[in-house]
Amino acid sequence: MLSLDFYNPTRIILGKGRIAELDRHIAADARVLVLYGGGSVERNGTLDEVRQAMGERHVQYFSGIEPNPAYETLMQAVELIRREQLDYLLAVGGGSVIDGTKFVAAAVNFAGDPWQILLNGGENVTEALPLASVLTLPATGSEMNNGAVVTRLADKAKLPMHSDLVFPQFSVLDPTKTFSLPARQVGNGVVDSFVHVIEQYLTVVGNNPLQDRFAEGLLQTLVEIGEQAVSETDNEELRANLMWVACLALNGLIGAGVPQDWSTHLLGHELTALYGLDHAQTLAVVLPAMLQVRRDAKRDKLLQYAARVWQLTSGSEEQRIDEAIRRTRAFFEAVGVPTRLADYGLDAACIEPVLQQLEAHGMTTLGEHGDITPEVCRQVLELAL
Ligand code: NZQ
Ligand code: ZN
Repeated sequence: MLSLDFYNPTRIILGKGRIAELDRHIAADARVLVLYGGGSVERNGTLDEVRQAMGERHVQYFSGIEPNPAYETLMQAVELIRREQLDYLLAVGGGSVIDGTKFVAAAVNFAGDPWQILLNGGENVTEALPLASVLTLPATGSEMNNGAVVTRLADKAKLPMHSDLVFPQFSVLDPTKTFSLPARQVGNGVVDSFVHVIEQYLTVVGNNPLQDRFAEGLLQTLVEIGEQAVSETDNEELRANLMWVACLALNGLIGAGVPQDWSTHLLGHELTALYGLDHAQTLAVVLPAMLQVRRDAKRDKLLQYAARVWQLTSGSEEQRIDEAIRRTRAFFEAVGVPTRLADYGLDAACIEPVLQQLEAHGMTTLGEHGDITPEVCRQVLELAL
């Protein structure tokens, strides 16, 4: 095991009807900005519950944070906060709203051009407004982590940031608030969570028995409940479990002390920024091809994954690896997320611009060995057509 730091200050409040508890966790004299997206939380009653829970507090609202939140939109929230002297942020929605809120929290008092926050991956953040969230889409883990991803439309750049100053103070996870999700978004959530675990697990075999078992437990649980969680739109138990898995998949726990490989995500971000695929759609396309291209570098861990997650213990090594990759792809398809670039109307012409963007963003040495170059990414995308 590598030496590790594990820090996570976020309180998770999971259960039906618990939005009312917001009142307990936000100071009575806070001047609150509630941030949300395109209106799903108005339509499914979440915002009404939030409004009620906030009681007599000073509360203002900012709507219109889009999927893959845009820097340009978020800067309007920054202006509003500065103008109205608001001092507490409550994100109500999915990962995009929570990510956007984290960036806003860091940008409000940032000295200089806030885009520099993204260009520096968040390392230059020295203060942030306190924030919390009400989650309506189990997927990103943003409700319990210190990361955010923001897109600047002007240059089609989708960049991540991390800062311990943007951990939510608490997040409310009411599984019944996910009932209004379209199947596509639930499927996206299952795939995103799955790939978060994979990127912290499927690297090299090391002496990490507990981390491996945590990761395999999360993957097996997703395989066990994924399809049903998509098809049963009002199953509170299933949705509660999905919320908890998605949260643990990227709250820092399983990644502590182990090598990580975020190449699928970083390549996927470029596909979203250039061609507008949903975040999880990019992962479903890239991961099976990435595993195929990296099968030698990942051989031992792929065999462990095959045996422990998919119970593949007979046949040659090559057969077990092929079958593990095939089942991974089939699982993504089964939860409704297509796994080929062609399924999204893309052909070989899409590849070159992606490689150029990877170069432009310095994403040229990805993976647990730092040897996933744009050339390797080209092979991956060709295999994903
Ligand atoms: O905008 P509204 O109207 O709210 O609709 C949203 C949006 O259209 C809708 N939705 C959310 N909750 C709903 C609902 N519709 C009906 N009922 C509900 N209960 O779902 C659509 C997608 O929402 P979005 O927040 O974009 O999805 P997701 O949670 O998958 O977030 C994706 C973003 O998170 C980033 C991604 O890159 C992407 O920008 N990520 C953030 C991470 C992090 N902070 O750690 C890690 C991830 O790997 C990921 O990169
Ligand atoms: Zn993700």
